[in-house]
Amino acid sequence: MKAKEPLNIMTAKATLTALALATVLTLSACAMPQGSGAPSSLYQALGAQQGIEQIADNFIMEIAYDPRVFDRFADSNVERFREKIIEHFCFIADGPCEYTGDSMVLTHRGMDINSAEFNAVVEDLIDAMDKAGTPVSAQNRLLERLAALRPEIMGI
Ligand code: HEM
Repeated sequence: MKAKEPLNIMTAKATLTALALATVLTLSACAMPQGSGAPSSLYQALGAQQGIEQIADNFIMEIAYDPRVFDRFADSNVERFREKIIEHFCFIADGPCEYTGDSMVLTHRGMDINSAEFNAVVEDLIDAMDKAGTPVSAQNRLLERLAALRPEIMGI
């Protein structure tokens, strides 16, 4: 059961509100598909850029409310995390994006993430996709690709 009063939720909410406004005003390179991301691609099945942004915003909120892991993100830059997670999901879903963040190994090195925490974040992502209305088949395709990164993220 998730707690209702996470430590950093106000920060996350305020940041998301600001980012939502910024997103309306700003077109990222990712927001302009240039011929790639064919209709049958996972990127399209996730709802393309708009769908992935919705998933990312929901994901941040799920993490912010999840006492199993939110303290892990206490010192994180929410704006950067949002930007990089959108790029990352877009890239691994074969969308028209470049991932400009750090590698999964480098990002999570030294965090000593255990399998309960990894699974908690995956559950948060599933909840985020459910709330975004992502089709289950597309959810499973994304989760399969992320599962392959588990050793890199957990450092094993
Ligand atoms: C499916 C699993 C996961 C994926 C795909 C993923 C992906 C990412 C990405 C793309 C970033 C941004 C990297 C950057 O800023 O350059 C990031 C950052 C981060 N991740 Fe993960 N991650 C996963 C699981 C986890 C788990 C299980 C934890 C801890 C419980 C975690 C903790 C963090 C933290 C704390 C940051 C921010 C680091 C910072 O602010 O410097 N991640 N992750």
